[in-house]
Amino acid sequence: MFQKIRDRLLLSSLTVFTIVLAGFAIVVRVVFVSSLSEQVIDKLIVLGQGVTVDAELEAGKLDIDEYWQDKDLDARKGGLQWFDIKGNLLQQQGKYTLNLPLNPNKTVQRQIDREKQIQAVTLSIFDHETQQKIGYIRVSQSLEDFDETIQKLDLGLGAGVVFALILSGIGGLWLNRQSMQPIEESFERLRQFTADASHELRNPLMAIKSSAEVALKYPEGMRNIDAEKFTAISSATNQMAHLTEDLLLLARMDKVADTKLKTINLSIIISNLIQLYKSQAAAKGIDLQVEIQNNLLLLGDAKKLSRAFGNIIQNAIYYTHEGGKVEVKANRVDSYYQVTVEDTGVAIAPENLERIFERFWRSDKARSYESGCSGLGLAISQAIMNNHGGSITVSSELGIGSCFTIRLPTYLE
Ligand SMILES: Nc1ncnc2c1ncn2[C@@H]1O[C@H](COP(=O)(O)OP(=O)(O)O)[C@@H](O)[C@H]1O
Ligand SMILES: [Mg+2]
Repeated sequence: MFQKIRDRLLLSSLTVFTIVLAGFAIVVRVVFVSSLSEQVIDKLIVLGQGVTVDAELEAGKLDIDEYWQDKDLDARKGGLQWFDIKGNLLQQQGKYTLNLPLNPNKTVQRQIDREKQIQAVTLSIFDHETQQKIGYIRVSQSLEDFDETIQKLDLGLGAGVVFALILSGIGGLWLNRQSMQPIEESFERLRQFTADASHELRNPLMAIKSSAEVALKYPEGMRNIDAEKFTAISSATNQMAHLTEDLLLLARMDKVADTKLKTINLSIIISNLIQLYKSQAAAKGIDLQVEIQNNLLLLGDAKKLSRAFGNIIQNAIYYTHEGGKVEVKANRVDSYYQVTVEDTGVAIAPENLERIFERFWRSDKARSYESGCSGLGLAISQAIMNNHGGSITVSSELGIGSCFTIRLPTYLE
């Protein structure tokens, strides 16, 4: 039980960590990439302004400053393109230039060229004396180095996130253990208390029960009214004895999984239970239908499984009106056995479906302890099934009835 809680805690903390770390990594990447590309653009603008600072018109033509050599531009993985005022390409330098037409309105342009990204900045050229616009220059640069840096960043962030997740997983395990320990200890104390109390109550209850029975055995001289009181005492002690036995059983099952597992035949266990409850069903005019596959063998505790299935079949008969129908089916489905107990009874309201397996929970509290309705039956059945690696689920529809489905692993074969 605690292992499940621990697993769930670890899983949820890891999910939260993953979301936080992924969010952090995304923000870091976005900020880094945008500031790096701003730097690249700034560099291009500075370069463009540098080469056009002395620009002028000579005989109506743009005088191109050959300040940069091609080889220097190639080493920088850059390029320069000069355009006249109408956007005609006049000259270009370097390998890393764009093949796109000039777009003076778009200052920053990107192009994937020869499988590499090239980024360009277009600037207007002004005559250094008249300050009149005389053309455009497009300064470009390969984004190879930029991409490399981003790749390194991605790698670093990815490795960082994985490392942080591993560390938080280990830390989470340790924290879980630290925080669950006191809860487990107090649960264990409570379990031990229930077991001890039920155990200690047994003897005095037996003493009261046998005294009442002895008194009833020799009723000579006893007033009728006293005999009735003794009968009531005897029946109440019987119920209390059952209740303490049930509590003891539950407390013991909370601690260890069953160790006395033997190869047993589920088909026989259920058939025997049907024989046992047949008359009870007949007395209520309930049509008890049975369909059990032969030789459903499994490893388990026959007595406990009989108790678990008995509770469910008994409930089906008890909570079904006279003249209703109860259907019990048992068969193998893939690697587990499936037993269904379906009735046309009072059904369970949807909001109570989760609660019926709680200890002492009963939909009708007034009916309380009559005919052994303590509200522990399904809690015991569920604990037994869990101890056998199985499960109980229930579906119910008001006005139609309920269906309990039990699944047990076969283990054998
Ligand atoms: N087949 C059923 N049909 C309708 N209600 C059911 C059925 N089985 C169980 N319940 C509901 O679940 C409650 C808990 O069942 P259980 O643990 O066996 O306790 P109880 O001792 O009351 O039978 C019952 O009080 C009843 O309200
Ligand atoms: Mg019951």
